[in-house]
Amino acid sequence: MIQENVELSDKNTLRLPATAQWFAQPSSEQQLQEILNDPRFTPLPRTVIGDGSNLLIHENIDGLVIKPAMRGISVIEESSEHVLIEVMAGENWDQLVDYTLAQGWQGLENLSLIPGSVGAAPFQNIGAYGVELVDVFESLDAMSVADAQVRNFSKQQCGFSYRDSFFKSVQPGQWVITRVRLRLNKIEKLTLSYADLAERFSALAAENQSAHGVRELICALRRSKLPDPAELANAGSFFKNPVVSSEKFESLQRSFPSIVGYPQPHGAYKLAAGWLIEQAQWKGKREGSVGMHAQQALVLVNYGGATGADVMSFAKRVQDSIAEIFSVTLEREPVLLPRALGD
Ligand code: EPU
Repeated sequence: MIQENVELSDKNTLRLPATAQWFAQPSSEQQLQEILNDPRFTPLPRTVIGDGSNLLIHENIDGLVIKPAMRGISVIEESSEHVLIEVMAGENWDQLVDYTLAQGWQGLENLSLIPGSVGAAPFQNIGAYGVELVDVFESLDAMSVADAQVRNFSKQQCGFSYRDSFFKSVQPGQWVITRVRLRLNKIEKLTLSYADLAERFSALAAENQSAHGVRELICALRRSKLPDPAELANAGSFFKNPVVSSEKFESLQRSFPSIVGYPQPHGAYKLAAGWLIEQAQWKGKREGSVGMHAQQALVLVNYGGATGADVMSFAKRVQDSIAEIFSVTLEREPVLLPRALGD
């Protein structure tokens, strides 16, 4: 069940080469518990990955890498308006979106085609086109890496914020998310706050103005902008959209009148990192086997043969140039593995 020296390049969508000293894919919570309690591995670092679509693996990973493979979707509560479902962490996210819509359950359509596993969705509070996981989230179960005990986390305890959670930034590496519970709608309630989506939706024939229609539009939008990791290795947005104060936004606007920013609660502004990167001439720029994508400047791509170190040094040059031109810090979105000691 546990393999030694496993190549990880086919287990991360940036296709970075590295090996895991040990690798396990538990297909039940019981197996996961046995692995976490196995005295051969308890003294070693233990690292959890999902489908690898948001990872930056910069070196070989010592110790045990665990990829949850538990499957299953069940209904745990249902009313005339809502359904509460429980989904095992090893399910594929987009297959879940497709399945729920086929049942007539709505709420995940804006999150169509996001690569990755269900267990990873709360880890980084996935989001797209005006919806974040937190909007449909009810609770989850996670197993403690330290003692293999299962704990239930409410929405509040998960500490969700933009592309972030308790699991990603407060206690990284300490929990394996095993079950995720989502509350979906049986009554149509679409989110069309994203301008481009609203425009395309209103152009649809009346019979297609549905959650299915939203899924179709979003799949088309994503396919037009984002490279398919199966064809061109990437990890989606490589940087987060930086959030700045209104004073900072106004001063940037004076120097760069066409800067793109979206007002946030409490007077802050979220800047479009893609715009900053494009203005700084990085869009479509390639150095060796790494570059920023020509259709979406926020997506870093590996054209083949790049190492984690190549990606890190290219990304740093982009970050330094954005800091120099705009005095704005670009934060990396993918999770860096192996984790730094003490992280
Ligand atoms: N822009 C440019 N040049 C570019 C790309 C973007 O100028 O090359 C500007 C444009 O003004 C555009 C704006 O940035 O209108 C926003 O671009 P887009 O709608 O493509 O979205 P994004 O802010 O670049 C975010 C998420 C995506 C998500 C989309 C849609 C982050 C870090 N990224 O990207 O999420 O799919 O919105 O909601 O928040 C991901 O996290 O991996 C991801 C793909």
